[in-house]
Parts: sequence; structure tokens; C-alpha cells
Amino acid sequence: MTTDLDQMQTDMLAAIDAASGLDALDAVRVQALGKTGVITTLLKSLGAMTPEERQAKGPAIHGLREAITAAIATRKAALERADLDARLARETIDMTLPAEPALVGSIHPVSQVMDELAEIFADLGFAVATGPEIEDDWHNFSALNIPETHPARAMHDTFYLAGEHERPIVLRTHTSPVQIRTMMTQAPPIRIIAPGRTYRSDSDATHTPMFHQVEGLVIDKGITLGHLKWTLETFLKAFFERDDVVLRLRPSYFPFTEPSAEVDVGFTVQNGKRVIGGGGDTENGGWMEVLGSGMVHPKVIAACGLDPDEWQGFAFGCGIDRLAMLKYGMDDLRPFFDGDLRWMKHYGFSCLDVPTLSAGVGA
Ligand code: PHE
Repeated sequence: MTTDLDQMQTDMLAAIDAASGLDALDAVRVQALGKTGVITTLLKSLGAMTPEERQAKGPAIHGLREAITAAIATRKAALERADLDARLARETIDMTLPAEPALVGSIHPVSQVMDELAEIFADLGFAVATGPEIEDDWHNFSALNIPETHPARAMHDTFYLAGEHERPIVLRTHTSPVQIRTMMTQAPPIRIIAPGRTYRSDSDATHTPMFHQVEGLVIDKGITLGHLKWTLETFLKAFFERDDVVLRLRPSYFPFTEPSAEVDVGFTVQNGKRVIGGGGDTENGGWMEVLGSGMVHPKVIAACGLDPDEWQGFAFGCGIDRLAMLKYGMDDLRPFFDGDLRWMKHYGFSCLDVPTLSAGVGA
């Protein structure tokens, strides 16, 4: 019997050693220690023995069970470790790989252009300022020297909020009230841009009731029209990513600037399409208007509590949607705000394409 048990142990240990995987090992365990396993059967047979027999054989059978149980546990741990090592070797992560473009969303062209503007103007020392979209008519009109009789104040051009208010409440018709809010809360020198939503009672292929503008404002000592022109030229060259952008300043009128200038950029016609750069008064070129600008009117500076003899500045305002259309080639404004995913897929930007001056703002 003892020799039988010794032989059994030797065979079982060999089988355990030979088990090449966890499944094979478990098969050996079931054979030995399962419900009808060899060792289990031996243990059961103890019950039928006389006390003397049990005393004689019991320790050897229990010893066998313990030895086999321990050997299986050891082998199991070794196999699991080998399994883990193999997985670690197989599933290494290459940290140098670029992130997977699994991001399904895309950046709206308006947001992209706003980021490009912030990047360009930050480089020129401008901060980004914001103001409320629901404005009172003092900030939107009066402080900007827009007289009561100005057509912009009429109901058919401007959205007024219902109800009685000390100052009539409007959806801001331009970003220019941010000029007022900034001058009233910040001591000059001031250099800001203010991108944001604006509202007018207007709707066709190139006008939507809600649209986007960016305002620019500089207030300092000794500011001239030359500073305005250089800033706009630098901005437009950086934005369109072309050195051959040409500007034309056309005398114009805004109540809040004096003198005022409408700014046109030159385009050339290439394959029937207008491309920004060169052009102007050339044979296959022309001008298109991109923004309004001028030297801040002394009355506006005074309305904000500053002395116009001490402080001067320039301001400009520009349609962001229009800038996006010119740069990225959309010819209809309405789909900007339709929420059509096919349009977004076509014109949207990867959120990993963050505009930087070094990589080209509209990379
Ligand atoms: N606010 C003007 C507009 O909406 C644009 C502008 C801004 C013009 C600043 C001059 C200076 O048309």
C-alpha cells in the first residue's frame, strides 16, 4: 500500500509538472482531488476501515492529499505568473505613438476662427474681453454716440426685450458695447479683442439674426491711424496666412469713430474663385470689405469717464462668420447655424488642431 501511494504520488507530481497550462493542471486536479478523484476515493475508503487500519493508512493518505494539493497550488502560481509575463510582453503600450484620433466631434469653424483670432492678437499683446449679449441701450447705443434717430435703433433692425426697463434692453447689435464696458472698468492703456455673438433683425444668404463679431480696442497715449493700419495689416496677413494681403482703407462713417474707415482686402480671381491676396486694382482682381474701423470718438472716451485730451485710441469691428467664409470657402452663411453634421464633418476642425502662430493658425 505504501509503495502504491508512493508510486501514485510520483506519477501525480510528474503530471502536475507536465501540465503546460491552467486547463491541463485543472484536469490533473480533478483526477486526483475531484468528487470521484483518486485521492478522494482513498479518503472515502478510510470510513469503511477498522480503527486500526485507519490509524495505519490514514496518515499516508492525508499526506498524499496535502503533498498533491500543495504541488498543484505551486504549479498554478507558476503558470499564472508565466501567463501574466506573456501578456505584459504582448500588450506593451508605445507611449511615443500619437493619440488615436478616436474623437468623433469636430470644432465649428466659428470657434476655430475665434481661437485663431485670440492667438494672433495675443501675440500683439491683446487680451480677450467679454460682455453680455443682453445689453441695455446705453451701452449698445448712447455711450457709443449713436443718436436716438439712428436707424440701428429702430425696432425693425434691433431686437428689443419686452417689458418696462429703466434703460431699454436689447440683444446687442454689435460687440462695440464691450469697448464701453472695458473702458469703464479698466484703466488704460487698453488692448483687447472681444469676440462674441451679436443679433440683428436680418435674414438672407449672408445675414442671420444671430451672427458673430470680433471687436478690437486700443486706448493709450499718442495712438494714431498708423497704429490702426499696421495692426490690421499684421492681423489680416497672419489670419489669411499670406504676405501678399493688400489693404484699402476707405473713408466711412461710424458714430463712435472719427475718422472712420471701412477696410477692404484685395482678392485675385483664380479658377473662377476669389482668393485673398494680391488683386485690388489689378485686371483680374478686386476688393472686398472685411471690417469697419476708426479712431475712437472723443465723445465715446469722455462717456467712459476718461479725458480724450489724454487718451486716444482706435477700434475695429469685424464679422467672424464672414472671416471664416472667406478663409475656408463657404458661400452660404445659413448652414453655419443649422446643426447639420454633414456640414460640420466637411468644414469642422479636429480638436487636436489647436491654432498656433508657429504651425500656421489655421493648420
Ligand atoms: N460696430 C460696427 C458694426 O457693427 C463695427 C465697428 C467697430 C466699426 C469698431 C468701427 C469701430 O458695424
